[in-house]
Amino acid sequence: MKTLKFAVLPGDGIGPEVMEVTLNLLSIVGERYGFALDYTEGDVGGIGIDNHGQALPDSTLELCRNADAILFGSVGGPKWESLPPKEQPERAALLPIRKAFSLYANIRPGLLYAELNDASPLKAERIPEGIDIVCIRELTGGIYFGQPKETTTLPSGEKRAIDTMVYTTGEIERIAQVAIDTALTRGKRVCSVDKANVLETSVLWREVVTAYFKKHAPEIELSHMYVDNAAMQLARDPNQFDVLFTENMFGDILSDEMGVICGSLGMLASASLGAEKNTLDLPFGLYEPSGGTAPDIAGQGIANPCAQILSAALMLRYSFGENEAADAIEAAVRKAVTSGTRTGDIAFGLPSVGTKAMGEAVLQQLQA
Ligand code: IPM
Ligand code: MG
Repeated sequence: MKTLKFAVLPGDGIGPEVMEVTLNLLSIVGERYGFALDYTEGDVGGIGIDNHGQALPDSTLELCRNADAILFGSVGGPKWESLPPKEQPERAALLPIRKAFSLYANIRPGLLYAELNDASPLKAERIPEGIDIVCIRELTGGIYFGQPKETTTLPSGEKRAIDTMVYTTGEIERIAQVAIDTALTRGKRVCSVDKANVLETSVLWREVVTAYFKKHAPEIELSHMYVDNAAMQLARDPNQFDVLFTENMFGDILSDEMGVICGSLGMLASASLGAEKNTLDLPFGLYEPSGGTAPDIAGQGIANPCAQILSAALMLRYSFGENEAADAIEAAVRKAVTSGTRTGDIAFGLPSVGTKAMGEAVLQQLQA
């Protein structure tokens, strides 16, 4: 039997609760689709700081290095909020792990089922069919990582801070390929978002993307949009997009906007694919829910596990090639939710269930 070897990093807040439900579900899915799980858990985020003095402990990095994928929960919480920004769990865990595994391609599906369109802050009549788009964000370049990045004190005593936005042709081309691959499985339309009316990096981005698509994917309809307009268009008519494709910081902002118009962060998964292949010759990747640690409801057993479950489905698809199992999980989540089993974040007047019962409802749909 095929064995899936992955690292499990539940993190903080609701992370461990939704992870437990997800791992149970995965092992049953494995029995059905013919794979076994071989996973090792590690500390990350606040619990990493508490237990090892580091948000991304060396021991955790090591176990990720020995795995074919990382299933990630979420990190952070009030306990660590007074730390300096650089040491806070989110930044001190996520940025180095992205760098360590060259996780350059962030894929965030923006999916809102039609039945849940009340959950969106957009008027239901604007999205009668729900929302179905995907954001491809470059994740290891741009202003997040460019050097110099520093704060200095000028002779006058005034302080001066610099971040550097930088992209190379190669970085743009490899993420363009991910946008192409994604569009080919969907509506074959890509909107590349930049700020080419102001930024040098965006002028290069647009040039390279245009040439790359022309050469490698002439069948894809490519358009370009400035980021300020894209932010407006996303709120006006999200389904005008199929694949929204952009650099690191613009993607950070637009993917959160996409998350909020899709209703509940409790439903949104993400994949961050690496430049390296795993032992199965598939992309090594990190899979995490788009929402946070939800400290306000942590420990109560009421968090929505769907985003974590859907992230596990992405892991099966991208890092393990288990497409059938991934499709089945996604369909089961959809059926469970649309047939009325809902956690509080998506209940809207319907009676709501807890984390475990939500997981069981998904399982029942899988077995139906
Ligand atoms: C995200 C987060 C991170 C980012 C933070 C926590 C460093 O907002 O994954 O979108 O900015 O990339
Ligand atoms: Mg963000």
